Order: sequence, then C-alpha cells, then structure tokens
Amino acid sequence: MSPLPIGVFDSGIGGLSVLQALQAALPLEHFVYLDDSAYAPYGERGDGHVVQRSRAITAYLRQTHGIKALVIACNTATMAAVALLRAEHPDLPIIGVEPGLKPAAMASQTKRVGVIGTRGTVSSAKFNALRLSLQDQAEFIVQPCDGLADAISRSVASGDDAKTIAFCADYISAMGQFGSNPGEIDTLVLGCTHYVFAQTHLEQRVGPQVRILSTGEPVARRTRQLLEAGGLLHSGPGGLQLLTTGEAAVLQAAAQRWLGLPAQQGAQAAHVH
Ligand code: SIN
Repeated sequence: MSPLPIGVFDSGIGGLSVLQALQAALPLEHFVYLDDSAYAPYGERGDGHVVQRSRAITAYLRQTHGIKALVIACNTATMAAVALLRAEHPDLPIIGVEPGLKPAAMASQTKRVGVIGTRGTVSSAKFNALRLSLQDQAEFIVQPCDGLADAISRSVASGDDAKTIAFCADYISAMGQFGSNPGEIDTLVLGCTHYVFAQTHLEQRVGPQVRILSTGEPVARRTRQLLEAGGLLHSGPGGLQLLTTGEAAVLQAAAQRWLGLPAQQGAQAAHVH
C-alpha cells in the first residue's frame, strides 16, 4: 500500500485522455498531472528537446511530490525518452504510451491500418521498429499530422474548432480510402493522446465502419498491473492535482470540458527548468 501520488505528464492537455482512463481504472489513487504546454509542441521540436523536458519533469515530480509511479501520457515523449528514463530511475515504475499497431493489425479485416501521429512519433526509431515487426500482419498507412495537436490545444482556449476540423479533413483525405471493402483502411490508430479530443471530427471523416483505436485504456490496465505487482495500490481517497508550465486557465478549461471537473478545481503553476 502506498498513499503517494502517481505522476502523469504530457506536452499539454492531450494526456487528460489518458488520465481519464487512469482515474476510471484506479479511482482510489491520487494523481498529479503536469501539462508542459510552455514547452510544446513536442512533436515538431526534435528528440533533444523532448528528452530534456522528460528528464526535467521526472526529476521535478519525484522531488516535489515523491511520486510512486510515472505515466508518460504522450507518444512523442515515450518514443524519445522512455528507455532513458527507465535506466535513470530503475526504482520507479514508468509506463509509456505507444500507438497500438498490434491490436490494430489484429482487429483489421482489410489488413490496411491508418496511423496518425506527430512527426516526432512516426519518424522515431522505436515506432519504425514496431511497424517493421508487424509488416507481415498488416499494411500501415502512416500520416504525420503537423499542427494538429497544437490546433486541438488552442481550440480549448478559443472555443473555435475550425482549424482542428480543417486539419482532420486534410490529413484523412491524404491517407486514401477508408471503409470496410477490400483495399480500404478499416482501422485508424490515434498515435497522439491529443487526437482523442478530435475523435468526433475524425469519425465524421472516416465514416462509421472504421474502428478508431486510442491508448488510454491499455495504459491504465498496465499501470494497475504494475502497482498491484509492486504492492503499491492505495485504498483511497483518490484525488487529483493539476500543474502546468503554461496557462492555468487553459488546463482548467480542458479539465472541466473533458474530465467534467468542477470549476473550482484549479491548476497551479509548475516551474520546471
Ligand atoms: C505535441 O506536443 O506535439 C503532442 C505530443 C504527443 O502527444 O505525442
């Protein structure tokens, strides 16, 4: 048993989709969510930047909150930094997210799977090794989506989804034909945690026969398994603290909109250098 919190971080608000699944799977745990939006987007800034931020955030969450486990709720940061963080923190359970290519290949009937992600994620060595290991199981149509994560984050502050909708339309049409007929893409993998918040726009583009897969639930299951195995589960009460290197009002608005948190659930500034 451990009452210590579980740390969760992302380049911004996208990781709230993972946090939602974590809270459902582990309602008695306390979570500290860190949104690093002052240093986002990660997906277009290169590995050096993402590794430096991931290290600084992990050290910060350990020092200031004594976290008992860390969930990297960001595909780009997982691809760039999970191996290094595990080597540097061998005593800390660290769970990453990665595009669910394997479940998608298994679920696909047409054996054509679409994958959307940031440029950082889909050009990483880890992603390409995974894709290669599954090449005999399905064909993967991979589309980097420059600007989409950022557009989703900005839509929270502005309330205007127009840019997100335009990006979804352009990127989906660039991938080819979606549907359940032979030769069509029947499964779409969301390789960025932000994209869950554009799911209705994506659904409208790909049509009802296409299955859309995200990573929140498998990550929450894995986190629960690791805590159980380490005797680290908590018996409540659960809780949540929201931290941001960016604008507190944006994180608060996103948490209210997507997690249904009360307006008084404030977000605090985190100074992570
Ligand atoms: C971004 O900041 O570019 C999004 C990163 C991600 O969730 O993969």
